[in-house]
Amino acid sequence: MEFFAINGSPRKNCNTAQLLDKSLEGIKSVFPDASAERIDLYDFPFHGCRSCFACKRKNGKHYGRCVQKDDLKPILEKIVEADGIILGSPIYFSDVSGNMRCFLERFMFPFVAYSKTESVEHKKMPLAYIYTMNASEELSHQIGYHNLHDHFEMGLSMVFTKPENLYVYETYQFKDYSKYVSDAFDEKERKNIRKTRFPKDLDNAFELGRKIAIQAKQHG
Ligand SMILES: Cc1cc2nc3c(=O)[nH]c(=O)nc-3n(C[C@H](O)[C@H](O)[C@H](O)COP(=O)(O)O)c2cc1C
Repeated sequence: MEFFAINGSPRKNCNTAQLLDKSLEGIKSVFPDASAERIDLYDFPFHGCRSCFACKRKNGKHYGRCVQKDDLKPILEKIVEADGIILGSPIYFSDVSGNMRCFLERFMFPFVAYSKTESVEHKKMPLAYIYTMNASEELSHQIGYHNLHDHFEMGLSMVFTKPENLYVYETYQFKDYSKYVSDAFDEKERKNIRKTRFPKDLDNAFELGRKIAIQAKQHG
């Protein structure tokens, strides 16, 4: 079996990446022999959808697939055959990161059929989404982050399956707060959250991975 974690953070060893790695460990705890690979979206250049509509062209060679030739193309071809995918992104200006947004356009749009009667055949694997952010849970609800993300989850649900999700709040942003202008934050409190809450967030990510693996088992 094959599972993927898609990292929408440019940082390869910070909050989002660590949570995604844990979720892959959760998958491996169910399927020890499965392949579980993390793909870092900031490792290679690619664009979002170019609106060429090759994926919707009647009798087109590329109908239902993205025609753009770049480093994302082989990844898209690989992950559409996956048994489960876990996406993860930091919140940037109340949304997912830029590269995650570009990825999602390319991942979803070819499978959106512009037809009342026809659909595009493809695998419908279980999905999960991990969001990490600076905001507290309370602030996140006040700003409405949960609703803002609904539009992606709605798209993913329409095309694939309804994603499970995990929200991780008040993440640790720097290794050493004293080196950065950051007096808007209480460093001591952040350190404490990192020590006491983040391990629980990692446990939740592990459980999320297990859940996706179990769903994949049920999908057959
Ligand atoms: C460009 C940028 C924009 C950000 N915008 C927000 C935001 O709107 N809301 C928020 O809660 N955190 C915001 N953050 C903080 C990140 O979401 C947070 O630190 C995240 O956990 C970083 O993930 P990483 O450690 O995996 O890179 C922003 C960070 C950056 C760099």
